[in-house]
Amino acid sequence: MSGQGNQDEIGVGLIGFGTIGRGVVKVLSDNAKEIEQRLGFPLRLVRIADLDTDTDRGVDLSDIHFDADASGLIADPSVQIVIELIGGYDVPRKFILEAFAAGKHVVTANKALLALHGREIFGAAFSAGLDIAFEAAVGGGIPVLRSLREGLAANKIEKVLGILNGTTNYVLTEMESTGEDFDVVLKRAQELGYAEADPTFDVEGIDAAHKLALLTAMAYGADLTFEEIPTEGIRGLLPLDFELAAEFGYRIKLLAVAKCHRSGEGGETERIEARVQPTMVPTSSLLANVDGAMNAIEVRGNAVGPTLYYGAGAGEMPTASAVVADLMEISREIKRGGCGPVAPLSYLPQYIVPKPVVSDEELMGRAYLRFTAVDEPGVLGQITGALGEEGVGIASVVQREATAAARGTVPVIVLTHSASEAALRAALGKIAVLAEVVEAPRVIRIEEEV
Ligand code: HSE
Repeated sequence: MSGQGNQDEIGVGLIGFGTIGRGVVKVLSDNAKEIEQRLGFPLRLVRIADLDTDTDRGVDLSDIHFDADASGLIADPSVQIVIELIGGYDVPRKFILEAFAAGKHVVTANKALLALHGREIFGAAFSAGLDIAFEAAVGGGIPVLRSLREGLAANKIEKVLGILNGTTNYVLTEMESTGEDFDVVLKRAQELGYAEADPTFDVEGIDAAHKLALLTAMAYGADLTFEEIPTEGIRGLLPLDFELAAEFGYRIKLLAVAKCHRSGEGGETERIEARVQPTMVPTSSLLANVDGAMNAIEVRGNAVGPTLYYGAGAGEMPTASAVVADLMEISREIKRGGCGPVAPLSYLPQYIVPKPVVSDEELMGRAYLRFTAVDEPGVLGQITGALGEEGVGIASVVQREATAAARGTVPVIVLTHSASEAALRAALGKIAVLAEVVEAPRVIRIEEEV
């Protein structure tokens, strides 16, 4: 067991000593003076637990008890705050609940766990009168959750919209600038360490949807489950899509969008729109110019208007910056004593409630549609006819000439006027059964107001 140490200091234990964990060790050590001058007392990393105790992480571990015993760390009286940086679901869930049972506050970066098991974990923290902080779970080092919870707390939030995944933003930026195929760029992203060996969560939009579920709860008090967020990834986008997007005046981003549709007297009736989709945004917009692995989030409040947060959404030191800021916030609460925990999701738990999602009939927007059709007379008319029958107006149509590789098929691109999601789906349903349309269409939404 570690010693009790300086009575003024707050003792911290770290479970999971990977890249971010190493960053936490560095930030706590390199910035110890600034941290103490801001808090009025030192933060001390007293214990680390990780199954891999052999790898040299290249950081100074003197005075830190390092072994594989996470439960021992949680039970150690010198640990007042437990940092969970393991990733995954079952093991971190077990340790977080064990930490609350032992009366310890928790800091985590685990968006997947919170998006799927948030109700249980936030409930356990609240019942125990303990804090859970997770700034690093959304936007890496960007303090967007703290901004929502504190700086924007006086607002009705109208919209949260942004680029929440660095891996996909890197792939989209590279596909656009090089004209290379998705698979080629993804492979390079993996070689450069931007993308995981299994990139499924990133490229399918799941990581962004986990983050959006947390943002939606914080923005609107909406207990929206991750499964309720329509999610489309970036697989299947072609160099042609980027070429045409540029011709139409757009760039393609994987956008996470959460809006609150308020109606009735005083805006009392709320319906939530939350989705993650590849989206065309005007070339001149700020979000269109967020390139590479960076993240950016726009939050619009009814009093403040639009605000924008930009920075590194991942990486050792940016993510560690957010983890240590959470440690500092909880340490202040511990020192104040008796104040009760902060509301981790901004709203008090009794006000985080299920809210209806906006219907497909109400959801309006423009779209880019790419069909792969047999190069025969009348096919274009069948596609545009189906759209017209369902009331989806057409702003532009482009048909490219057939290439030898396409074996008699051509890409047909339609840009729609604003139409409901229901009408668009009905039209796409009719087109899907046409024998002349040989592949599922690729739909890219268009968001003008970014
Ligand atoms: N895999 C994430 C991304 C970083 O690419 O943005 C961690 O949230």
